[in-house]
Amino acid sequence: MSKLKEEFMKKIKMVNTNFFKILFFVIGMFVFSQSTFAIGYPSKKLAEIKIQWTDQGQLIQETLLKDLRGPSYKSWQNQVKVWEPHAQKVRVYHALNLIEFLNKFFGPTWKKAHGLSFTCRDGYIAHIPLKEIRRYQPMLAYSMVNGEDFRVDNLKQNEKDVNLGPLYLVWNNLRYSKLKAQGAKNWPYQIVAINLERKDPLLALRPDKHASSQIKQGHKIFAKNCLTCHAINKLGGQKGPDLSEIISLKSEAEIKAYILDPRKLNPDSIMPAMFEKKSKKMAQRQIQFLYEYLKFQIQSKK
Ligand code: HEC
Repeated sequence: MSKLKEEFMKKIKMVNTNFFKILFFVIGMFVFSQSTFAIGYPSKKLAEIKIQWTDQGQLIQETLLKDLRGPSYKSWQNQVKVWEPHAQKVRVYHALNLIEFLNKFFGPTWKKAHGLSFTCRDGYIAHIPLKEIRRYQPMLAYSMVNGEDFRVDNLKQNEKDVNLGPLYLVWNNLRYSKLKAQGAKNWPYQIVAINLERKDPLLALRPDKHASSQIKQGHKIFAKNCLTCHAINKLGGQKGPDLSEIISLKSEAEIKAYILDPRKLNPDSIMPAMFEKKSKKMAQRQIQFLYEYLKFQIQSKK
């Protein structure tokens, strides 16, 4: 090989190795940054999320998770063993005594209120009657006892590896079989606000007594199945869009088809299909009632 050619080959090799070094570095950085973001809320960030305690929407107290876990509340921290409804197995969580914090932040009159609502990072809102809270005394979990990740797969909502923090409402369903039968109902995770509802805020969603029985049934189906994620006339959860807007934008057929099988129309949907276990006729009937109720609600607002 001529000298010139040798020199030339060497250079190419150098360029090559440097090129690959840089390439791998860039790929490495990319993967690293994606994994931090993919997790969404690395635990460091969780520590900075403020948890609000509100009374009828008025801010009473703003706390960081580390305040609630601090030494002053040592006796309100406990371990709870539950049947984890998302994972379908027994799990032990570190948890805070919700009742004690309600006493502390709202004073003794909280017991006379109508309910509590839990607002989550993703806009989900769970309204839970106070009699359930007082009777079963759920706890606010913040980590797993065995050091495992504080996460679940929520396959029903097409969400995998969901970080439960900062707070997750857990119930002693190993003791009360009635609770176990309810599955993941009333187990909001990613809780960032706890609101004391002195009156029922959902009264405005109830059709008046002159409404047809279809509309009344539609209201019940909505309150039970949709309200945690969707608002109507701005009242309700914000994980999905406000349905008052959807009703005026989309056709009746489109809306009904979406409710029946969200993933058929939108493969990335995180909305659960709720009527698939029912017979086709039953599902269509219930969706019809729902639709009539939604239409009635937005018309009665105008
Ligand atoms: C767990 C949360 C959740 C529940 C419960 C839920 N939805 Fe949804 N819904 C969503 C989200 C999020 C979207 C936005 C797109 C998607 O992911 O499907 C959506 C989208 C929709 C859409 C389509 C909106 C559009 O842009 O076309 C309709 C209609 C709808 N939901 C109605 C309902 C009804 C009626 C119920 C109750 C029977 C319900 N949803 C229950 C989360 C939910």
